Amino acid sequence: MNLTPPTACPAWARLAAHAEGWRTLHLREIFAHDVTRAVQFVAEAPGVRYDYSRQRMGAITLRLLSHLAEQRGLGQWREALLSGKVVNTTENRAAWHTALRSATPPREVADTLQRMRVLASEIRGRKAFQRVVNLGTGGSDLGPRLLADALSDGALDVRFAANVDPRDLAHALEGARPEETLFVIVSKTFATQETMANAAAAKAWGGKHFFAVSSNVAAAQRFGASEVLPMWDWVGGRYSVWSAAGFAAQCAMGPENFDDFLLGGREIDEHFAAAPLEKNVPVLMALAGVWNANFLGCATQAVLPYANALRLLPAYLQQLEMESNGKRVDRTGREVEYATAPVLWGAEGTVSQHSFHQLLHQGTQIVPADFIDAGENDILVAHLQAQADALAYGTDDPSLPSYRQYPGNRPSSILSLDKVTPRNLGRLIALYEHKVFVQGVVWNINSFDQWGVELGKQLPTEILSRR
Ligand code: F6P
Repeated sequence: MNLTPPTACPAWARLAAHAEGWRTLHLREIFAHDVTRAVQFVAEAPGVRYDYSRQRMGAITLRLLSHLAEQRGLGQWREALLSGKVVNTTENRAAWHTALRSATPPREVADTLQRMRVLASEIRGRKAFQRVVNLGTGGSDLGPRLLADALSDGALDVRFAANVDPRDLAHALEGARPEETLFVIVSKTFATQETMANAAAAKAWGGKHFFAVSSNVAAAQRFGASEVLPMWDWVGGRYSVWSAAGFAAQCAMGPENFDDFLLGGREIDEHFAAAPLEKNVPVLMALAGVWNANFLGCATQAVLPYANALRLLPAYLQQLEMESNGKRVDRTGREVEYATAPVLWGAEGTVSQHSFHQLLHQGTQIVPADFIDAGENDILVAHLQAQADALAYGTDDPSLPSYRQYPGNRPSSILSLDKVTPRNLGRLIALYEHKVFVQGVVWNINSFDQWGVELGKQLPTEILSRR
């Protein structure tokens, strides 16, 4: 496996030189000179169209970026990821989330999924519970919360509490009765202080029914969970929505829809494994991000889903991208001399337009944006298109006062789905997962550990013990 810094690759130096030329080029002129651009800089994955024509790059840029991916040994790394080899070296683990959505999953995965289907069907069918409350944080909360918010069919009232601030749990329990409430405690370690505090508070409230999702079965049983669904050390928290960590979402959307979600993820795995680099959507997303961060100097990345159902996507992707690739040392322990993950932020359009788009259009920082077109309705799509065009082309009218001028030349991509469905959401999340992986390979960092959060986890216990 290639463990050298990317800066040692011949393609890196060529990209750096090539970027100089792009500093003076404007997307307005590029589109004017190349009428084929709008169809050329587009790639398709199952159910998703990726339009990166508004990125500040050309055919040569793309070729050099593909060379970089090859020189980084992407093929070998990809094979290691997809076949469940140890890619998380600091914890000596695989990162085999793709096995959770495979057509031929390991036995333990198939058994767990079947158990989840039975339980979720019973809970939805028998109406023994009026409320399901997911207690978890980070990857044990953000994924199922996103899915439930986007795809709940209304058959069951499913809520989430993540914050140790009691107000969060109080909200989740408004109007609920203990005998009709099922708590699902999701914690891979069953040791995260906030989740344990919320679980204890749920018991103190009079909660009687507890399921757990954890790799620490003994601790979950000691707590009194009547059902413990397993998690495995080869599934990272932020990649666990496909596992039993998604159980509350499965209760909200129904087992068949959850199966469709898994299917969508699997289709993208197959695309990622087989499509040539220049047509491979997660690879292209990753390389556009590398180009912007490392060669055009962009420090942040916006995600703008134009669908209310996807309003929680930016929060989900913040953990996925920043916990995975917010790293300062490479796989050999050396401090890196190049940028790794940009700060990811965003909000649902069109609401975001009336908040921070001013900065996107006229601020001093260039913020590349991913627009997500979920085909929800014509007005939304028109707004999305307008924003992407205004960012790319700006205005070219010197008669306007400077405060009314739009410089343009601000890069963005458009990911289009035909609708927000379980299968499409599976596709979208899997695309971003593989994007993150490819960037980790380019940057020579381990995308699957999160040592940076450990210190902040330990200190509160010490501080509390001194009080
Ligand atoms: O924030 C750190 C982290 O370890 C995340 O990676 C994880 O998703 C979250 O805490 C929750 O951990 P657990 O599922 O063990 O409670």
